[in-house]
Amino acid sequence: MAIKAVEKNSASASKWTPDSWRAKPAKQLPVYDNEDELKIVENTLKNYPPLVFAGEARRLKKALAKVGAGEAILLQGGDCAESFAEFHPRNIRDTFRVILQMAIIMSFSASVPVVKVGRLAGQFAKPRSDGNETKNGVTLPSYKGDIINGSEFTPESRRPNPQRIIQAYNQSAATLNLVRAFAHGGYADLHRVNKWMLDFVKGHPMSERYRDLSERIDQALAFMAAAGITGESSQQIREVEFYTSHEALLLPYEEALTRVDSTTGEYYDVSAHMLWIGDRTRQPDGAHVEFLRGVKNPIAFKCGPSLPVDDMLKLMDILNPDNEPGRLTLISRMGHDKVEKHLPELIRAVKKSGHNVTWSCDPMHGNTRTASSGYKTREFGNIMSEVKQFFDIHYAEGSYPGGVHFELTGQDVTECVGGAYKITDENLSERYHTHCDPRLNASQALELAFLIADELRGHYVRKRDAADDEGMKV
Ligand code: PEP
Ligand code: CO
Repeated sequence: MAIKAVEKNSASASKWTPDSWRAKPAKQLPVYDNEDELKIVENTLKNYPPLVFAGEARRLKKALAKVGAGEAILLQGGDCAESFAEFHPRNIRDTFRVILQMAIIMSFSASVPVVKVGRLAGQFAKPRSDGNETKNGVTLPSYKGDIINGSEFTPESRRPNPQRIIQAYNQSAATLNLVRAFAHGGYADLHRVNKWMLDFVKGHPMSERYRDLSERIDQALAFMAAAGITGESSQQIREVEFYTSHEALLLPYEEALTRVDSTTGEYYDVSAHMLWIGDRTRQPDGAHVEFLRGVKNPIAFKCGPSLPVDDMLKLMDILNPDNEPGRLTLISRMGHDKVEKHLPELIRAVKKSGHNVTWSCDPMHGNTRTASSGYKTREFGNIMSEVKQFFDIHYAEGSYPGGVHFELTGQDVTECVGGAYKITDENLSERYHTHCDPRLNASQALELAFLIADELRGHYVRKRDAADDEGMKV
């Protein structure tokens, strides 16, 4: 494999620089009417501090390699789009909290580590199916996320404004600062996380079903405390590793935050630990692929139902020519009614090619519909069904369903319908706060974590039984 990779490298790769993407066709990038203003912003950003360190990105890559090898689980989640208006410590805290709660459920069930990655501190730029939007005969550029333009339907607000890039950077820095404090300052102590979980289960319509697991976690923690393993004595109990990620869509922003790591001499995009390429910008000869091939962060690309197997193979060669474990995550986002048709052939092609990848499932973006009231929504049942099929298909193909990728919030919103509280189309207007796609609320997110826990438990029990059988033979 190594020899093959080197041959591929020298045959196809032209010289990469942080700006080599500029010579390639780019989809989804905004057209700025004042190029000079954009240049000034880019130059300003080039002198700003990195948001993350290369060493942290390398640590995440190692953790993702473990996920790829079936020894850990990836949990990635957060807003569809962060916004300037919703910027509040409470929102950051609640998203962080629900991700930790999901992680404890999943980790306890499978007895494996959960790698926690937020869609936050930089998740601002949005691809849109339509570049323009028309209302009452007026056509304006579509809203593309707060880092690019405003959502209000006026010419001024919809004009791509370079100054927004600086505001997005500042908000990302403040968000990350708070997240780091939560992760390392005592807030994420396992006992506290489990206490939130017990409180959640108590008042929940499905409490009967969930109580058993939450009580077992409680007992395990009490047992460890009796043995002297507490938050005070153990950093692993007291702190968590929490990473950041976003879609690398707005390439001028990503380029300005790309730096040479002084330890290795290699380029890292220091805007986040992990970056991904969206389903609309994954053309093998396009600008987004060109940019991400050159940075050493762990990266991902979305695999929607229109992804040809050949393109997927090309993308793996371009983005991970050395076949480095943990470098590349494939995020399947097919839709509950398409996953059975499209995913198996992708899994088989990956296996046949010998590429190391980490698989993850985004059950959100293939399951969006518009309610008659005009709200975009997603059915909880369809989301759950796509996750379940993703796991089952991987197991049937002898592949490891490494992780999940959700749009969620810790707030009690009414954006996705269904779930234990049976949110209906009529409820959507009550608390519909998203700036882009509908998110799972805290209760729906935890319900999903319990579902995933069931799926994982089955897998790990089978795996351990098989290992025991092997042991018996010897
Ligand atoms: C997203 O993750 O917000 C997104 C737009 O996804 P996709 O590229 O898969 O449509
Ligand atoms: Co989205």
